[in-house]
Amino acid sequence: MRRLVYVVASTVDGFVAGPDGADPTGPDGFWPVPPDYVEHLAAEYPETLPAPARVALGITAPGSRFDTVLEGRRSYEVGLRAGLTNAFPHLRHLVFSRTLTVSPDPGVELVAADPVATVREMKRQEGKDVWLVGGGELAGVLYQEIDELVVKLGPLTLGAGIPLFSRTAAFDPRTWTLTDHTVLTSGALFLTYRRSPAQTT
Ligand SMILES: NC(=O)c1ccc[n+]([C@@H]2O[C@H](COP(=O)([O-])OP(=O)(O)OC[C@H]3O[C@@H](n4cnc5c(N)ncnc54)[C@H](OP(=O)(O)O)[C@@H]3O)[C@@H](O)[C@H]2O)c1
Repeated sequence: MRRLVYVVASTVDGFVAGPDGADPTGPDGFWPVPPDYVEHLAAEYPETLPAPARVALGITAPGSRFDTVLEGRRSYEVGLRAGLTNAFPHLRHLVFSRTLTVSPDPGVELVAADPVATVREMKRQEGKDVWLVGGGELAGVLYQEIDELVVKLGPLTLGAGIPLFSRTAAFDPRTWTLTDHTVLTSGALFLTYRRSPAQTT
């Protein structure tokens, strides 16, 4: 079955960005992006690299895991501020927003409908898995729909920031089964968790 997979970079204390919502891995960012991290992403998750990085690395293959990416409006605007109207033209790209009315790019679909209903409909359709890029607010809304988590755990803490799941998400403890892990020399960990079968809704 088609699954929703949240592939996300997290700090050890569970944040995906600083409190200001800027790009933590951008030119002015504080998040280390060492060469072995980029190499691992290019080898295992080439679809998740934005178009300029794919060009720089010579990646042209469509990738085998995902054909669709879901993004919250505030995450999408991080790319817009960097001049990218569509960071993922190699995927079907949906941006959830109830305030944007005109898409800045013909390849980006704006969705004001309920994210949960939208994802459930996608899961009924044929296709590769769906990548949830974030951010924390959208991931909080979709918390119960996430089938797999790929946490790119960076060797850093922030103390404060935007959490992996929105602070407004409902309290709903879940257990996950660790299905894969990679430890990079630079100190980053890639941790893959599948939602435990007993909790599948
Ligand atoms: N570490 C990582 O891997 C990673 C990945 C992605 C993003 N980030 C970071 O995350 C930060 C942004 O995250 P965020 O939590 O502030 O925001 P977000 O989840 O990216 O976007 C929130 C927006 O999504 C829309 N939305 C949320 N719920 C919705 C619903 N039920 N229906 C329709 N639209 C809905 C709303 O847009 P409207 O207000 O327009 O309605 C809302 O303001 C940025 O700093 C970014 O760099 C980090």
